[in-house]
Amino acid sequence: MATPFILIVFCLITSPPSASSSSSTHHNDYITLNEGSSLSVERPDHVLISPNAIFTAGFYPVGENAYSFAIWFTEPSCSNCRTVVWMANRDAPINGRNSKLSLLKTGNLILTDAGKSVVWASNTFSLSSSSLQLYDTGNLVLITTTNRVILWQSFDAPTDTLLPLQPLNRDSLLVSSRSLTNFSSGFYKLAFDDDNVLRLVYDGPEVSSAFWPAHWLLSREAGRSSYNSSRIALLDAFGNFTSSDNFTFFSADYGVQLQRRLTLDFDGNLRLYSRENENGSWVISWQAFAQPCKIHAACGPNSVCKYVPSFGRKCSCLPGYKIKNPADCL
Ligand SMILES: *[C@@H]1O[C@H](CO)[C@@H](O)[C@H](O)[C@H]1NC(C)=O
Ligand SMILES: *[C@@H]1O[C@H](CO)[C@@H](O)[C@H](O)[C@H]1NC(C)=O
Ligand SMILES: *[C@@H]1O[C@H](CO)[C@@H](O)[C@H](O)[C@H]1NC(C)=O
Ligand SMILES: *[C@@H]1O[C@H](CO)[C@@H](O)[C@H](O)[C@H]1NC(C)=O
Ligand SMILES: *[C@@H]1O[C@H](CO)[C@@H](O)[C@H](O)[C@H]1NC(C)=O
Repeated sequence: MATPFILIVFCLITSPPSASSSSSTHHNDYITLNEGSSLSVERPDHVLISPNAIFTAGFYPVGENAYSFAIWFTEPSCSNCRTVVWMANRDAPINGRNSKLSLLKTGNLILTDAGKSVVWASNTFSLSSSSLQLYDTGNLVLITTTNRVILWQSFDAPTDTLLPLQPLNRDSLLVSSRSLTNFSSGFYKLAFDDDNVLRLVYDGPEVSSAFWPAHWLLSREAGRSSYNSSRIALLDAFGNFTSSDNFTFFSADYGVQLQRRLTLDFDGNLRLYSRENENGSWVISWQAFAQPCKIHAACGPNSVCKYVPSFGRKCSCLPGYKIKNPADCL
């Protein structure tokens, strides 16, 4: 295990442990980012690890000399096969030199690009001291040291993935990635609509349309209710998903506690993945569309969609057109 090494690093980069943790010998007490400290993009060892070691937060390469501050499943650990679950700056990657995530003494967490511009901030302020910690659930939390008041948490601002116990609410939404390899914001969204119904929407440059539940069904026919205005949806640890619009599903492996994630994939399909152990591969345990060609704008204009069981769908262009983007025939 790499833990002792990480422990040493964090003793160096964090301020001396506070009184509450200095009496403890448990090393995870030090795996936090304290006020006045920062994580550097140039140091691969500058990461936060959850006490159960399942999640890691740090700088993730998203392109040539381009990084995002992200949270990923610690295993598998190869640099370009990680499963990312959250990103702070997916649409504004930072330079690989001189960029850092800093927790200011004012309680603001900021991400600076190449020592200059601030590309992302928690916009928080606290008179009492605070620290940044990665919880066992995968939630990155900025919390005051003495009163344990949560100033900011990544669970409130999801990217394309919900983890178990991470609620989706009226203020949050999932936005798909651009492609399998491009983590920028794509065109598919999952959110509660004005009528309290949880919907998948294609929000492209030219058209916007809801496609799940199917637009030709009344909400009631789709088993949805618009009466409950609490607008909250949650996946529990055992694979039970419930939404306040009365939509529910159970994962195929419901009942056991596995590593799970509900991801709005770049192809517009919402999928629940699970795996038995950290070195196992992700298995789809539920998905919104069994036939991916039914997803809105699945293949873009001038194209045909074909269902390929091993991958999902395959797009090809009509005669006379050629592929520009993976989803566009021009
Ligand atoms: C990802 O896609 C966006 C939008 O098309 C583009 O601006 C960006 O350069 C792409 N990023 C990478 C790393 O290819
Ligand atoms: C699933 O979760 C909902 C909401 O927490 C709960 O009411 C329901 O009883 C759960 N179902 C099962 C089978 O555990
Ligand atoms: C509305 O949904 C929430 C969350 O699912 C649930 O706890 C609550 O009981 C529901 N309210 C009504 C009136 O059904
Ligand atoms: C929600 O679903 C349950 C079980 O299917 C049903 O009994 C109940 O009437 C539904 N509630 C609404 C408001 O549609
Ligand atoms: C997963 O694989 C890594 C490296 O191959 C190994 O160190 C670790 O013990 C494995 N973990 C499990 C739970 O099998």
